[in-house]
Amino acid sequence: MTYPRIIAIDGPAASGKTTLARRLAQALGYTFFDTGMLYRVTTLAALQAGIDPHDEEQVSELARRLQVELRTDPRTAATRIWLAGQDVTDRLYTPEVDAWVSVVAAHPGVRQALKAVQRRLALQGRIVIVGRDIGTVIVPEADLKIYLDASLETRARRRYEEARARGFDVTFEQVLEDMRRRDRLDASRDVAPLRPAEDARILYTDNLDPDAVFQQVMAWVREYDPQPGGAQR
Ligand code: DC
Repeated sequence: MTYPRIIAIDGPAASGKTTLARRLAQALGYTFFDTGMLYRVTTLAALQAGIDPHDEEQVSELARRLQVELRTDPRTAATRIWLAGQDVTDRLYTPEVDAWVSVVAAHPGVRQALKAVQRRLALQGRIVIVGRDIGTVIVPEADLKIYLDASLETRARRRYEEARARGFDVTFEQVLEDMRRRDRLDASRDVAPLRPAEDARILYTDNLDPDAVFQQVMAWVREYDPQPGGAQR
């Protein structure tokens, strides 16, 4: 059977992308790559270096010189991010990084610097790659493009529960407000704003549990109409 070699999944925060992508990657034996981690690690590095996240020139320069390594944990298949020789994965999801990452991700220089890394990994194939502009900008040639969406309230509820589970002391209203602000920034930035590719399959996940989302996407994977160069399995 021929499966899509590059599967791109885009959509707003907490639309269910990561859960879906992990499961797909596991089912297909593909690599899972969450590109949000690259924007988060750039944000973390800027904050650590005392650089103002609004300073496009300095942050972009930092992104170009970023010594970042992606490693897969062989036990859990989760991606770990190393910055200058240190595993910083657990520091990428703090409220501080959450608060600044959309500002960093809006800088064209940062997006340009991180594009090459993402394309290089994506074009190796047999990959499920997740982000905001994967199907539109990073790999428009992806074999299957999925766009997940859900209402702001549903997504804020999911993020709130995740944050509480991680031990962060936040209120639902704070999470909702932060998400509203980030949505606005992600959708209104000049470069690579969040939107579905024209040929993306759009799925609303408000009333779907993760299993139903997975089953729907697996159906699309199976009915994939091979283009020249599709993965033979
Ligand atoms: O998916 P996430 O919450 O980890 O993403 C963090 C931020 O990075 C979010 O504000 C959007 C941005 N991002 C982006 O602009 N492009 C991507 N491909 C991935 C994430």
